[in-house]
Amino acid sequence: MEFSLLVSLIFILISTIFVPQLRALEYTQGLGSSTNPTILPSSVSVIPSIGTTIPQFPPPPLVPALFVIGDSSVDSGTNNFLGTLARADRPPYGRDFDTHRPTGRFSNGRIPVDYLALRLGLPFVPSYLGQSGSVEDMIHGVNYASAGAGIIFTSGSELGQRISFTQQIQQFTDTFQKFMLSMGEQAAADLISNSVFYISIGINDYIHYYLRNVSNVQTLYQPWTFNQFLASTVRQQLKNLYNLKARKMVIMGLPPIGCAPHYLWQYGSQNGECIEEINDMVVEFNFAMRYTIEELGRKLRNSSIIFCDVLEASMDILQNHDSYGFNVTTDACCGWGKYKGWIMCLSPEMACSNASNYIWWDQFHPTDAVNAIIAGNVWNGRHSKMCYPRNLEDMIV
Ligand SMILES: *[C@@H]1O[C@H](CO)[C@@H](O)[C@H](O)[C@H]1NC(C)=O
Ligand SMILES: *[C@@H]1O[C@H](CO)[C@@H](O)[C@H](O)[C@H]1NC(C)=O
Ligand SMILES: *[C@@H]1O[C@H](CO)[C@@H](O)[C@H](O)[C@H]1NC(C)=O
Ligand SMILES: *[C@@H]1O[C@H](CO)[C@@H](O)[C@H](O)[C@H]1NC(C)=O
Repeated sequence: MEFSLLVSLIFILISTIFVPQLRALEYTQGLGSSTNPTILPSSVSVIPSIGTTIPQFPPPPLVPALFVIGDSSVDSGTNNFLGTLARADRPPYGRDFDTHRPTGRFSNGRIPVDYLALRLGLPFVPSYLGQSGSVEDMIHGVNYASAGAGIIFTSGSELGQRISFTQQIQQFTDTFQKFMLSMGEQAAADLISNSVFYISIGINDYIHYYLRNVSNVQTLYQPWTFNQFLASTVRQQLKNLYNLKARKMVIMGLPPIGCAPHYLWQYGSQNGECIEEINDMVVEFNFAMRYTIEELGRKLRNSSIIFCDVLEASMDILQNHDSYGFNVTTDACCGWGKYKGWIMCLSPEMACSNASNYIWWDQFHPTDAVNAIIAGNVWNGRHSKMCYPRNLEDMIV
């Protein structure tokens, strides 16, 4: 175990000794942080009452549901229910979220799929482990994403429990079967084939596998070979999803993790320069994945599969940060050590007072403001084009 992880573990142990009293108080006030609120877009709460002139109904959703598969970039509460160090169920996580409470999202506020759910006219998607399991709860979509998860089953194992990519697809199979049982095979298939699948995974295969040289992987495989392996694994799983009637899929590339505060600290970046050797691997991964996705999309009949290169858009944000309104580009808002990249974000005292001009929220994850930009780009290339061969809006409208 890395030393920084060990120190973080000690912090968590200390805080679990002192925090229970506070939590007991929260629960008696009904503010339990591990509950997973399903928040509707504000327009949905407009309930027409007798006497109002024109009843305001929310516009109908553009698609029936949004299903999310991935890692901490899109986890909306899965890990709250697991034994893991990778968790975001305590302050200051969520402090700028709609509820101003931690939910399990690895950010100060919303994650990209929250912004996209609103664009699609859907409520925020509940996490698979945080909902009741009834079809009613899952009908607008389910989020299976789990922090620490990778494409490779063992990626992230040193953090504790996590639901791997393959396991998440198995959980989706379970959801699909429940839909079929409840509404019949054809209706369930129609619902699934018209829904959007958002898949954001792969970074932990670097952070917690390749870069840690697990099982001597760096000696055995060049990054290129490793990337090819990851891409072909994803390809196989997307075919499995297709066989489960998924047709509209958004596959996210990897962000410039070589610019993340943790690696700036670990690799001893002097003036905040990104770690090129890490970003080079990410560029290769995105290249391999984009090629694989385009080829698969041509092959699978009636499918619409797009690949979104997060690195491209993120480099634009980093380089033109002033025009985006960011003036802190290397330091995380929350954490300890140089660039706040040494110790993970564990308490409100470790956080800056206002994250709105920060790019990084913690040692690995971007702020709400960055997530909004990424989501806007996925939707219609609002700030920069990053999805191929088309944007999400063009895929569904
Ligand atoms: C990876 O691990 C193996 C065996 O533990 C070691 O021999 C090798 O030098 C390591 N490679 C790198 C690049 O650190
Ligand atoms: C493709 O769509 C058409 C028209 O909706 C449908 O008849 C056909 O069965 C679909 N094919 C596959 C492989 O899904
Ligand atoms: C960034 O901008 C904010 C608000 O304009 C200012 O308070 C802060 O000092 C600036 N920080 C840096 C590092 O320039
Ligand atoms: C943070 O700063 C921004 C811009 O300076 C401001 O609009 C926002 O209200 C501030 N947020 C908080 C929570 O103080």
